[in-house]
Amino acid sequence: MIPSVIRTQVAIIGAGPAGLFLSHLLHRQGIANVILDSRSREQIEQTIRAGVLEQWTVDLMNDLGLGARMMREAHFHRGISLQYGHERHHLDLEELTGGKKVTVYPQHEVLRDLLEAHDAVGGGQIVFGVGDVALHGLTSARPRVTFRRSEDGLEEVLEADFVAGCDGSQGGSRQHIEGRTEYQKLYPFGWLGILVEAPPSYHELVYARHERGFALLSTRSDTVQRMYIQCGPTDDVADYPDERVWRELRVRLATGGWQLTEGRIFQKNVVGLRSFVSDRMQHGRLFIAGDAAHIVPPTGAKGLNLAVADAVYLYRGLEQVYRCGRRERLDAYTDTCLRRIWRAERFSWYMTTMLHLNPGENPFEQRIHMADLEYVTHSRAAATALAENYVGLPLEG
Ligand code: FAD
Ligand code: DHB
Repeated sequence: MIPSVIRTQVAIIGAGPAGLFLSHLLHRQGIANVILDSRSREQIEQTIRAGVLEQWTVDLMNDLGLGARMMREAHFHRGISLQYGHERHHLDLEELTGGKKVTVYPQHEVLRDLLEAHDAVGGGQIVFGVGDVALHGLTSARPRVTFRRSEDGLEEVLEADFVAGCDGSQGGSRQHIEGRTEYQKLYPFGWLGILVEAPPSYHELVYARHERGFALLSTRSDTVQRMYIQCGPTDDVADYPDERVWRELRVRLATGGWQLTEGRIFQKNVVGLRSFVSDRMQHGRLFIAGDAAHIVPPTGAKGLNLAVADAVYLYRGLEQVYRCGRRERLDAYTDTCLRRIWRAERFSWYMTTMLHLNPGENPFEQRIHMADLEYVTHSRAAATALAENYVGLPLEG
């Protein structure tokens, strides 16, 4: 049986933030693309992940005409609170950055908006639920991606000018980037995240360092809240019955005259924390973007935003090739991305080490983190540095 062949300009593996933004940007310039994803649309729309958008990501959504629901439903905050020594300190990020806000709008809602826009414009094909995805001929003029629509389905071929590996940290595309060096740091802790039916307990996000470990109070809507506690990196949610979670949250977030509003917990998950960078993001006609190339621990709220930044840079490179046949931007793709990636890695590592209790650190090291918190909550210069990183550096170029 001869496999059926689909021909396109850009083959995209993965319909997460990197893949969907890339597809949308290319489609607007008339550049044909097809996305393959191993998950179903329902799974993609329902997976609970990141919550905070950087200011330029919000601006991009609006510029692309994707921002209407976000502007109605997102929560916009002036700042965040850092808590330590049982006291809460407000950082007015809006004032410190000349008007940039903290936008809380969950990743799966961003993906829903992108998929809806994709449906509306008929923006190329997305094939969900594929298996056996494999890349071939990446240094040839016409690379190919083979896949199956179902377990016992026939092998099909997607032939393209370029392949974008947007398949997340577990995807296989990174393995094809020859000559790469990988940098990694594993942290000896994870986050237990919960979704709760309750009104907000506080008007902004609270990041707390406590003797029992980190806690984060975030939000989703007027009726649903998101909260996290530091846990072991491979802990099981079964070890965290609701009462234990509430006890930890009450203790770690306690501060004078304030009370945590509790409610029914309807979702729990554990993620391990790590930092990871691949120092090459392209090989032949393959380009990797987002979590396929780098991971940040979630404390800086950067993962989703970095994935979108890669997608914009890759789009700019491909657009230049198709518009005027020049490759400077595409050739510079890795270097352009890495400047932003390492800044985000540094910030995410800094927030993570400052706010978590690391059982491997000695009392001196732990006092240094307290001194860091003292500094950032009492020095305008230090607070400004945190603020400009948290709300997001503008895109280069
Ligand atoms: P992904 O969103 O991972 O998308 C990759 C897509 O590729 C997926 O849809 C997947 O199904 C598909 N795929 C994978 N392999 C294949 C294959 N072989 N063939 C076809 N398709 C494939 N960041 C924060 O800032 N704050 C948070 O609280 C936070 N929480 C997180 C919780 C979890 C459990 C995870 C995994 C990540 C979290 N992140 C968080 C990080 C953030 O969600 C990611 O940085 C972001 O999703 C990266 O987008 P992406 O498009 O690069 O990859
Ligand atoms: C959320 C996640 C983060 O990683 C963070 O730093 C802030 C908020 C959230 O899921 O709401």
